[in-house]
Amino acid sequence: MGNRIASALNSLSMPPSASPSPWIVLKFGGTSVSQRHRWDTIGTLMRARAADEGGKVLVVVSALSGVTNLLQSGIDRADSPPYLAELLAQLRARHLDFAAELGLDGETVLAGRLAELQHLLHDPRRDTRVFHWQAELLAQGELLSSTLGVAYLASQGLPVAWLDARDWLTAVPLPNQSAWAARLSVSCDYAGDAAWRARFESNPPLLITQGFIARAADGGTAILGRGGSDTSAAYFGALLRARRVEIWTDVPGMFSANPRAVPDARLLSRLEYQEAQEIATTGAKVLHPRCIHPCRDMNVPLWIRDTGRPDMPGTCISRSAEPQTGVKAISTRSGIVLVSMESIGMWQQVGFLADLFACFKDHGLSVDMISTSETNVTVSLDPSDNLMNSNVLDALCADLAKVCRVKVITPCSAVTLVGRGMRSMLDRLTEIWAEFGRERVHMVSQSSNDLNLTFVVDEGVAHDLLPTLHALLIECGAMPVEQSAVFGPSWRAIAEPAVAEPVSWWQAAREALLQEAAAGTPAYVYHLPTLRRQARAFAGIDALERRFYAVKANAHPAVLTALAEEGFGFECVSLPELQHVRRTLSDLPAGRLLFTPSFASRAEYAGACDSADWLTLDSLYPLRHWPELFAGRRLVLRIDPGYGLGHHAHVKTGGPEAKFGLALDDVSAFVEAARVIGAEIAVLHAHVGSGVQDAGHWAQLFAQLAHVADGIGTVAAINVGGGLAVPYRDGEAEFDIAALAAALAEARRQWPQYALWMEPGRYLTAQAGVLLARVSQVVDKLGVRRIGLDAGMNALMRPALYQAKHRIVNLSRIGDADGPRVDVVGPICESTDVLARQVTLPADTAEGDVLLIDTAGAYGFVMANHYNLRDLPREVIFDV
Ligand code: LLP
Repeated sequence: MGNRIASALNSLSMPPSASPSPWIVLKFGGTSVSQRHRWDTIGTLMRARAADEGGKVLVVVSALSGVTNLLQSGIDRADSPPYLAELLAQLRARHLDFAAELGLDGETVLAGRLAELQHLLHDPRRDTRVFHWQAELLAQGELLSSTLGVAYLASQGLPVAWLDARDWLTAVPLPNQSAWAARLSVSCDYAGDAAWRARFESNPPLLITQGFIARAADGGTAILGRGGSDTSAAYFGALLRARRVEIWTDVPGMFSANPRAVPDARLLSRLEYQEAQEIATTGAKVLHPRCIHPCRDMNVPLWIRDTGRPDMPGTCISRSAEPQTGVKAISTRSGIVLVSMESIGMWQQVGFLADLFACFKDHGLSVDMISTSETNVTVSLDPSDNLMNSNVLDALCADLAKVCRVKVITPCSAVTLVGRGMRSMLDRLTEIWAEFGRERVHMVSQSSNDLNLTFVVDEGVAHDLLPTLHALLIECGAMPVEQSAVFGPSWRAIAEPAVAEPVSWWQAAREALLQEAAAGTPAYVYHLPTLRRQARAFAGIDALERRFYAVKANAHPAVLTALAEEGFGFECVSLPELQHVRRTLSDLPAGRLLFTPSFASRAEYAGACDSADWLTLDSLYPLRHWPELFAGRRLVLRIDPGYGLGHHAHVKTGGPEAKFGLALDDVSAFVEAARVIGAEIAVLHAHVGSGVQDAGHWAQLFAQLAHVADGIGTVAAINVGGGLAVPYRDGEAEFDIAALAAALAEARRQWPQYALWMEPGRYLTAQAGVLLARVSQVVDKLGVRRIGLDAGMNALMRPALYQAKHRIVNLSRIGDADGPRVDVVGPICESTDVLARQVTLPADTAEGDVLLIDTAGAYGFVMANHYNLRDLPREVIFDV
């Protein structure tokens, strides 16, 4: 561990130091001081700062984890002597056990401390729970942990001295402060004076002290309250005008969003004080907002580091020479209460607002955001203890009702974008506004310091919105993640560093692809080994009886041949597709050709009767109007299960708005019409859309159709369609085929009487294909750089039609440093002829370069067209 940290320290850039002071303040929280190896880390870090930087080191520690809560329980149950006796035993055992883990004789090292604890738990002051007794009791956790730490590091040969924080941090009385706050939630002086500093300099150079505690004005013990230890460290840092304060914790730093909700959230390597303050205030729990001020006032850099990952750069909060605009983070706070107040006939009356706000003051509620109109004022209240634990809101409303009509909207969440220069970025945030437009937005507020933009929405929706909003902020360029000095690695990359991005086939085939491009672009290239890999992964689903390939995704003869060899049948949507498959695969075994048209004409059905093995009907019309075509046949009936799914509204094929499928209401009429002409419904089918990520969907659909089949009686098989998603963007997970297989196996166990069919397209071919195009021009216009290609929406329609995101790389310049964000556009006379917006490509991308558009093997060439009389792209097969 020691070497790892030492080498990591050498490779990390220290934050700029504005101070000639030798002091560096390090703070360690509960989990960081509760294990022996963590204390070894603390020792290593102290040594390194002293040796490598010639610094003096002050370490501020919290209590062992859980101890402060235990002490608080002693206060809460001070009327129960048996509980206090048990508590004393528990606290003794906890600290003596840890002393033993540290190889120390706890009874000796902690003798004085444990005696004091015992004394306090028997102190007659406990009967009245006076605040000074509470403070003294709460302080014991830090006094114990710091004593153990000093003894342990001394035993390891590090000469550290113990410092009583109360001799150095002094509480400042505040006007109107309650007696409780004056003892248990104090603020301290952090300006200090020369005399203070001179006195401090007489201490030894390596010190350990306590967080959370200070000296009260009367000389007794005081507690800092929430965020205590971080704030202690900040106070010491400010008083010492330290080189920096390092907050060592158990997360890598502050992130551009809560990593639990957004795995792609990026570590924020550098922040200004004000930005960090906003992020801490609007939701992030890493740092208590209180501890930023002292450092900011004294210009002391604050550095958040991860004790478990000492080689991570952490988050450095400091003053910035040239503040950059851009969204740094998106955060959420839940438990927000909105109070909407409508004036009743008091329009423009002087003092109306004063009356309203007086009510809030009287009930001890502090207002956060405000929005006003001529007749309405709406404010938000942050969740406070007061709000949660009392009926203060009812009392407030009763008072407000005397002057206005009042409505409370709760529970809400505030979603906040934090960053400098919000107002200048509004034009980029169109998609963000659109996303919010789909939800009920109760309030929008833009802070007067231009550092935040907040949307208040119903509490339930905020969490789900975050990943989308975060991705949109990056896409629209508002969150400039390419600034590597500010945006570090994603949480996904930190948490799963071992999972390297799989190497795509085209990375290995780069030279061959460049040669192919020389023969003419645009060109689609299909890689048959990748196609076979996907086909075999799919064929591994044991529960499947028959597998068809949806020809519409990619109809290249080599693709069809390879899939026929892999045992696939073919699902065709048109007579020309059927004829194409027959022509290409002259010896296709019987039963492998399935016709699933949409609004086909009589003639087309008639043609299909001759070539397809299976005909699918999805409305009553053909049966009623052309019964002679279907009489006596075994049919497939396509059902609309009542809902659609998919990567975009345009590809959802179920539900009232979709033209596909027979409504469940009409099934019995269809069954009757079929019976009349002697046709049999042998297969039920449904396909609800394309690009479905939920691996559980097909089993649910199978169950739904099985119930319908039970009511029909002639059904032998159920076809649950295609629609399996594939990853298009960096970091997107592969479709979970194992989960699909497991869910289908379970569904089959319940309905063994129905065979299972599926018909994917994209899953088989998308990743096997790329589109190669050549750069025609590089043009800067009004701050936007556009890379022009010889392929546009004529060659690949998906971005224009579905805002689909395909990864684009410059094959000619792999590995070159990225430049600023660009739009990639085609040669077509349409404004929507954009293949990608605001993506990064090498800075030196130039005319003639070959760009590769990834994951283009499905719905690429088949949707290409001659618009503007352009040629279709070439198609090329790679089979190596
Ligand atoms: N079965 C039926 C009845 C279908 O309509 C489709 C696709 C499939 C199977 C195959 O779906 P897949 O497994 O490929 O998702 N052009 C759009 C996709 C349209 C899908 C049309 N039907 C896109 O590029 O996203």
